[in-house]
Amino acid sequence: MNTLVNPTSVNARSLPERLRDPSLFVEQACLAGNWVDADNGEKITVYDPATRAAIGTVPSMGAAEATRAVEIANSAYRSWVSEPALVRAQVLERWFDLVIANAEDLATIITIEQGKPLAESRTEISYGAGFIKWFSEEARRTYGQVIPANERDRRIMVVKQPVGVSAAITPWNFPIAMITRKCAPAIAAGCPVIVKPSELTPFSALTLALLAKRAGLPDGIISVLTGPPEGIGGVLTGHPLVRKFSFTGSTRVGKTLMRQCSDTVKRVSFELGGNAPFLIFDDADMDLAVSGVIASKFRNAGQTCVCANRILVQDSIYDRFADKLAQAVSQMKVGNGLEPGVTIGPLINSAAVEKVNRHIENAVGEGAKTLLGGVSSGADQFCSPTILVGATASMLVAREETFGPVAPLFRFNEIDEAIAFANDTPFGLAAYAFSESMHRAFYVGERLEFGMVGLNSGSVSTEVAPFGGMKESGIGREGASHGMDEYLEAKTMHIGGMSRPV
Ligand code: SIN
Repeated sequence: MNTLVNPTSVNARSLPERLRDPSLFVEQACLAGNWVDADNGEKITVYDPATRAAIGTVPSMGAAEATRAVEIANSAYRSWVSEPALVRAQVLERWFDLVIANAEDLATIITIEQGKPLAESRTEISYGAGFIKWFSEEARRTYGQVIPANERDRRIMVVKQPVGVSAAITPWNFPIAMITRKCAPAIAAGCPVIVKPSELTPFSALTLALLAKRAGLPDGIISVLTGPPEGIGGVLTGHPLVRKFSFTGSTRVGKTLMRQCSDTVKRVSFELGGNAPFLIFDDADMDLAVSGVIASKFRNAGQTCVCANRILVQDSIYDRFADKLAQAVSQMKVGNGLEPGVTIGPLINSAAVEKVNRHIENAVGEGAKTLLGGVSSGADQFCSPTILVGATASMLVAREETFGPVAPLFRFNEIDEAIAFANDTPFGLAAYAFSESMHRAFYVGERLEFGMVGLNSGSVSTEVAPFGGMKESGIGREGASHGMDEYLEAKTMHIGGMSRPV
């Protein structure tokens, strides 16, 4: 039985009153280094998903402000790209230091606007800051190539140059890390960047911009524009001066944005939806597999693109595994993320709760049994962690990303049957497999059609390794050296007349 901690008891103080440095709470957008309101003065109210109380407001900007940000970014570009890489690296280093120094305040902002428990918000700060650190180091390694030429009097070299003004639309589930993962490589490469954060979680993004400014990032190199998606998004995907566009979010929206980018043939990277399979074989270390499922499935209350969506358990260990998982999950504490000990916060909005309930009802209607949890009342945005046994391929939980704390357990017998079921989806972001046999784990890992595979690990998220999907889960990779390449063009220089007498 999961405890529900009274969600309203802890939030009597306003968000800025909870911060060590209240100046980190900003209610204006950052347009090329200036803090501004929308041209028309309109605002959007942001709500705490745990209490549904208003937190504050941000400007409701549109196409006019976005166009201005693009034009200023374009004029700031030349001078930023002319700086030695060391200068760009040093600014990023200072940004990293400031994010770490203000980690506690940033974590509080994330928890209040997004809902995840404070401990998870702190983890997101180190994860997100990790991208800034990593790309501050990569800034100095954008090496080119010298290629043996095809003619005697010719020399050929390839230089890496920044792609130009870049733009990003980022999601609410990781309001810091999804921004640093895109902005840090852009800035390191020499690209100015314009970000439109989710209108549900704009305050973390604005604090990040404030810290970037305090770190010495020149005006015009980063803008954070708040507002509804259409106006700003239309400019970021359609303006010819924007040369690179990056998006993390749903596959449905990603397809629309990709179409919008095609008119000006922008470089694009997309990190879209998933439907992660999590395979547990009969020789798996059961405790490791249980902690892997908890790490993957219940992180951020199941609101991640890489979280286990279909848990496939081999027949001979199915019942034992289900009981062990239920025992561990029953210890989780649901409540306001500010409350000590809470491990599952609220979902982001009531539509998310409705989807979770719809998936549970559909599964139960088709014969699944609820081992733990079940549908929630919908009176607030909290959902109990739920375990469903007897899940089958025709259920919604098998076909759609639930994006909530529901763990459906599917039964399988043969290894190839499990692989075929795992791959039977248009998505291909993350997959997981647990087995103590190295060659079995490799057999499965090599056949799974997913961009990231966790073998005996429920986590695939780090700045040091490429992150991204296959099939309809996206294009491009973030993190690692791959993440830097997304913001660089390879320019080939052909030098002729090299055989003339000296
Ligand atoms: C996502 O859910 O989009 C990202 C998750 C991660 O970076 O681990």
